[in-house]
Amino acid sequence: MSEILLEMRDVSKTFPGVQALDHVSLKIKKGSVHALMGENGAGKSTLMKCLFGIYKMDSGEILLENQPVNIKDTQEALTLGIAMVHQELQSIPERNIAENIFCGRYPIKKVAYVKMIDHKKMMEDTEKLLSEINLKLSPKTKLADLSVSQRQSVEIAKAISCSAKVVIMDEPTSSLSEHEVKALFDIIQRLKENGTSIIYISHKIEEILKIADEVTIMRDGAYVGSWPSTELTTDRIIQKMVGRELTNRYPLRKSHPQEVILQVEDLTSSDPKSFKNISFELRKGEILGIGGLVGAQRSELMEGIFGMRAIAGGQITYKNKILKVRRPRDAISKGIALLSEDRRAMGIFGVLSIFDNVTVASLDHHLILKTILNKKSLNEVVHESIDKMSIKAPSAKSLIQNLSGGNQQKVIISRWLANGPDILILDEPTRGIDVGAKYEIYTIMEDLVAQGKSIIMISSEMSELIGMSDRILVMCEGRTSGLLDAAMATQENIMMLATKYM
Ligand SMILES: Nc1ncnc2c1ncn2[C@@H]1O[C@H](COP(=O)(O)OP(=O)(O)OP(=O)(O)O)[C@@H](O)[C@H]1O
Ligand SMILES: [Mg+2]
Repeated sequence: MSEILLEMRDVSKTFPGVQALDHVSLKIKKGSVHALMGENGAGKSTLMKCLFGIYKMDSGEILLENQPVNIKDTQEALTLGIAMVHQELQSIPERNIAENIFCGRYPIKKVAYVKMIDHKKMMEDTEKLLSEINLKLSPKTKLADLSVSQRQSVEIAKAISCSAKVVIMDEPTSSLSEHEVKALFDIIQRLKENGTSIIYISHKIEEILKIADEVTIMRDGAYVGSWPSTELTTDRIIQKMVGRELTNRYPLRKSHPQEVILQVEDLTSSDPKSFKNISFELRKGEILGIGGLVGAQRSELMEGIFGMRAIAGGQITYKNKILKVRRPRDAISKGIALLSEDRRAMGIFGVLSIFDNVTVASLDHHLILKTILNKKSLNEVVHESIDKMSIKAPSAKSLIQNLSGGNQQKVIISRWLANGPDILILDEPTRGIDVGAKYEIYTIMEDLVAQGKSIIMISSEMSELIGMSDRILVMCEGRTSGLLDAAMATQENIMMLATKYM
């Protein structure tokens, strides 16, 4: 196990205004799982993109099996046996599994001097690969018909098909259910047994301690150190990542809920497979947690309330009046905001700046004589957001697509805060966010409810539900299965309600 497969030495990389990597080194042992950790913007993805040939490093070297290699592009990385399963999946939805795996390098056969794609071989090879990772699907299934985790498995199959020596996984479990995470861990285990090394990026510390053999921690583009995971604990990892002791994971909840502001009665989706007969109340100054497993229809319920999904029956009362919402604009104009789970697809305007992304939903509040945009007050809002959320970027004019994953999220959260909503619906608000920044977001949530705002928070992290909510509504298969007082809630009883079939 001690043989070094891959080494990155003294790697540096700057972008305009940012030193993303400052002499970073990394040693990966053969057949091991090596976790890469650090706060948002620490440089993890950049380092991996240098390894995979997406970015060119300014200086430094890469050694594969003790031989210096010069990786100019991703094709070359693949040829050398380095594969990457991206956080943003890159598959082609309208093509089938086999075509996605062999895209750009189809097996060829010659029929009477004419070169043709050997479909039969491609299907057979794909079948073999899928059985290797225990994915029970036909190679002819279209990618569009697969779940996120199945698509991810296809990417892994692709990595294996290139007989990768190293597979890089950048936050692979951020949108997987518990069951799917287990399936991924089984695949990782099998890859390891075959001598493949895995570089694993994640913000989920419990997960890292379970799966990783070694952990390398980065901070602000610099290398902090590497340790066997057996020498680490959650607290030690946090301390090394943040550079200081973080004694509390959650701020003290001092606020108290008041009168009911939103009442949902018997709400049922038009989609028979979605939520049914949902009733709950939200109070002014309350954080209502929504627990449940992936697939419990929690996001769908919130999208229904927000006007993004058709409702077949039931009623919503808001500030003592019947609320009719046909489209998100209606909800927004009434003071309801939704931070969606799928921020990449639904929330980010990549080619626009941080400034534009923060202000886009609240321009109406910054008009002089209802016509002219008040640049000064907008600027104040943007700079306050950057400060409060500690968004790491060279300036407010930086394009959001150049920010690290976690920092993009902070920008989107700022957008909804800038709109001053009375009810803020947050769907997995801290997914992909590092521990330090999580605490900042929690503090902002507590400040908001202390001001009399209300928050609905969907979360798959039990400790977050318990640590931040006043009450927790648990859903299972489109229905509510229980309502808990957060002070009395335990991980066990949330889990029990989340898996309760009615
Ligand atoms: N293409 C780019 N152009 C400009 N700056 C960039 C680019 N890519 C990354 N950066 C900057 O480099 C730094 C490191 O970003 P990187 O994406 O590597 O962070 P990360 O550790 O992966 O963070 P996260 O946990 O949030 O994903 C950040 O400050 C980011 O804004
Ligand atoms: Mg990243």
